Amino acid sequence: MANIVVVGVQWGDEGKGKVVDLLTESAHVVARYQGGHNAGHTVIIKNDKFVLHVIPSGILHKGKTCIIGNGVVIEPKSLIEEIEGLKNRKIYVGKNLFISSVAHIIMPYHAMLDGKNEEAKRERKIGTTGRGIGPAYVDKMARIGFRMGELLDNKRFREKLKTNLKDVNFLLEKKYNHNKLSLEKVYSQYMQYAEYLAPFITDTVVLLNNLIEKGKKVLFEGAQGTLLDIDHGTYPYVTSSSASVGGVCTGLGVSPKRIDGIVGVMKAYTTRVGEGPFPTELTDQLGEDIRLKGGEYGATTGRPRRCGWLDFVSLKHAIRINGFTSIALTKLDVLDELDTIKICSAYTYEDPYKRCECSKKGVACRFTDMPQDAKVLEACRPVYREFNGWKTSTQGVKKLKDLPKQARVYIDYISEALNVNIDIVSTGQRRDEVIILHNPFKS
Ligand code: GDP
Ligand code: IMO
Ligand code: MG
Repeated sequence: MANIVVVGVQWGDEGKGKVVDLLTESAHVVARYQGGHNAGHTVIIKNDKFVLHVIPSGILHKGKTCIIGNGVVIEPKSLIEEIEGLKNRKIYVGKNLFISSVAHIIMPYHAMLDGKNEEAKRERKIGTTGRGIGPAYVDKMARIGFRMGELLDNKRFREKLKTNLKDVNFLLEKKYNHNKLSLEKVYSQYMQYAEYLAPFITDTVVLLNNLIEKGKKVLFEGAQGTLLDIDHGTYPYVTSSSASVGGVCTGLGVSPKRIDGIVGVMKAYTTRVGEGPFPTELTDQLGEDIRLKGGEYGATTGRPRRCGWLDFVSLKHAIRINGFTSIALTKLDVLDELDTIKICSAYTYEDPYKRCECSKKGVACRFTDMPQDAKVLEACRPVYREFNGWKTSTQGVKKLKDLPKQARVYIDYISEALNVNIDIVSTGQRRDEVIILHNPFKS
């Protein structure tokens, strides 16, 4: 297949970085289509650990073209630090990296407002990464945001900054009792970033489409996951971009006709960082054990990730929206020591308003489709199917036949019940700890 998308199936951190790194071998170009430095994509090569935030994970392979698309929001300081961090580790970043001139810029006030908004929401907070992602996308939609290309026109940038700061400073001072931002300080800081980033900024829509036209293979790299998607996730406990497959076309300016395959990265259990409904969450010792064994701490913020069982109701939703042609099942090895493994096949729900037919009959509703309202989802209880654990190490297993029988039963059940092709099974953090049944790039 010529061009494939890598998408998170759950609430992010499924191991997209590792899968992108694996598949980059078969690609010429890796392009990020949404999100910002809220993402943390980990790639382990031998004993070296890299965490990519905005730069496509393909940068770690020599000779690949890496594109940061228009759908991404960019915080220049952190991007420069990311570039410098890679360079310091002898990773080439230069003529292989291209930044969309129409990608929106995260300004200093976006992070401030992110923090203040969260504070104001108190117990209804989202648990954002605090990186200013939401407020940057708000300005994009309000048509007052800065785009990367505007960094290159200092006069225009200054004028617009002056206008924007009038409103921002009013809000900071009057609503949040916070010091005003200085026009001169922000302006001179951003002009320094402009000087550094100018050589990377270009029309990536023309670039990418020309590369596709020439027959180059592209890997479209998603950040976050389907359940964090602004439209299809557990709103309002989501991020502010289109993390599912639809984001590729808007976030990179490519036609859906250019997408040949869609790889969903699915953790063998479920995690979530931040607030929001999570019907299969384990709040007991078992949840702690999985967190410890799986190293489930945020790659960007270091926050402990909430852990729980695989959830077929939400997975079916993600499959419906994305139409995965392949699944990469990750972190199977994390389940190695468990006696019993559970999969949620449905939810039960007691309607507090007793409006539905079930309540009238005095029984709980049973959902096999994910409710769209987070309030309803919060009140859903999982119905489980149990599997025996395999109680054998699968770490580093490279062939399906070498997996313990019960692990194969678990994988086969997921594949059959969800009607998906599991083409990759990841059995450890490292690049070579993986079973590749089929390379999604090869049709
Ligand atoms: P991403 O945001 O989807 O790229 O995922 P993160 O990098 O935030 O989190 C995934 C974590 O799981 C990272 O620490 C990876 O090194 C690790 N990881 C990926 N695949 C596997 C696997 O198969 N087994 C284990 N034990 N760890 C894995
Ligand atoms: P990767 O790409 C997991 C979560 C935050 C919060 C919500 C909104 O590494 O999978 P935001 O800062 O985006 O406004 O926060 O989204 N979140 C992620 N969770 N992985 C991510 O990225 C995430 N990016 C954002 O924790 O719940
Ligand atoms: Mg991550």
